[in-house]
Amino acid sequence: MQTTEPFDLLVRGGTVVTPAGAEAINVGVRHGRVAALGVPDTAPAAEVLDVRGLHVLPGVIDSQVHFREPGLEHKEDLESGTRGAVLGGVTAVFEMPNTSPNTDTPEALADKLARARGRAWCDHAFFLGATDANADRLGDWETLHGCAGVKVFMGSSTGSLLVEDDDVLRRVLAGGRRRVAVHAEDEARLRERKAIAEEKADPAAHPEWRDVETAARATRRLLTLARETGRRVHVLHVTTEEELPLLAEARDLASVEVTPQHLTLAAPDCYEGLGSFAQMNPPIREGRHRDALWRAVADGLVDVIGSDHAPHTREEKSRPYPQCPSGMPGVQTLVPVMLAHVHVGRLSLRRFVDLTSAGPARLYNIAGKGRIARGYDADFTIVDLNAERTIDTAWIASKSGWTPYHGMPVSGWPMMTVIRGRVVMRDGATVGEPLGEPVRFQGV
Ligand code: DOR
Repeated sequence: MQTTEPFDLLVRGGTVVTPAGAEAINVGVRHGRVAALGVPDTAPAAEVLDVRGLHVLPGVIDSQVHFREPGLEHKEDLESGTRGAVLGGVTAVFEMPNTSPNTDTPEALADKLARARGRAWCDHAFFLGATDANADRLGDWETLHGCAGVKVFMGSSTGSLLVEDDDVLRRVLAGGRRRVAVHAEDEARLRERKAIAEEKADPAAHPEWRDVETAARATRRLLTLARETGRRVHVLHVTTEEELPLLAEARDLASVEVTPQHLTLAAPDCYEGLGSFAQMNPPIREGRHRDALWRAVADGLVDVIGSDHAPHTREEKSRPYPQCPSGMPGVQTLVPVMLAHVHVGRLSLRRFVDLTSAGPARLYNIAGKGRIARGYDADFTIVDLNAERTIDTAWIASKSGWTPYHGMPVSGWPMMTVIRGRVVMRDGATVGEPLGEPVRFQGV
């Protein structure tokens, strides 16, 4: 018997994407959670959100962002980064440990959680970065409140985190239980080939320096050690056609992330148009890789889409290559860019939801998120699939103040963001106060 107690929020008149598909139903929310699906229009509620003409999706979880606090707040901080997230329809983020100091101790993790309290607009969890020094401690620390798990940089990128050799990587993998997120580029090969970048002094050389073999070699090493230790791994921002069959052979252990930028941009055009603003690690590569990544989205090999939001200022990105840092902002543009791909039929809306909500929830054992279902957190990304917009730098909240997609016309736009039953974004503006909380995980 359904209780007659009024709902706190009634989401009325929309098309709701539930595990059963897209349904024209109302959603009743109580105490921050989905209390009932398919309730009548007249159900009593303290607040009614009229979403006629809109789609109500499970909240988008961006499981790879870099928000730069502490230490690099001139590029981004937890307030600006999470504000960009909710403006872009993202309801939860997992933040990476290459800040300053690195998040590589329980104290540094606690510091990030304290900084996020009252300043984060969306729900959040933080990765612990693996190092030689903490490799044997991570198994104890990875279950701490607010921890998304362990992140390994096999190749150096922004910051100093690095696990270069197999012995340390083996210790990291042997020492815990949760899925380990890995940046798979082979450091030894990066060092051997650095002269290519220095001699060419052109960002178009970035995929030549950090070439296919750099990524494939690291992924092969990682999968061998994952097999040996029985540890589950998540290969972040996969970029090459060559890695895909290796990953397909390891589905019992390995999961796969791709980014919107690797699905949208391609060399050489991106470097001609954007120069070092298209530079990231691992690099944007030629079209054959982008096509292969799309096939991997279509055939189910890709588990999640994460933005790898990696803000750097225009001034930093304008330095001569290869002194300019790698990375581009993306947390705010993930939803519109991917909905534009949905609009032209490159993936279905259900697959989008699978990759941005159900996927991260399944991989990381997130408690109470990832689907619109009774008892789950009332996190909704409410979108207008027919809105025609142009992505513009002026819309971007990131302190970095730019987007590689400036001027890109898109069809489909985030109109409202609801987190645990509270509207935090409506029509392009934040609503209320930042009330983001740590994400909860099952079994930790
Ligand atoms: O391009 C990148 N930028 N790749 C990474 O792995 C790190 C990121 C950053 O933090 O700037």
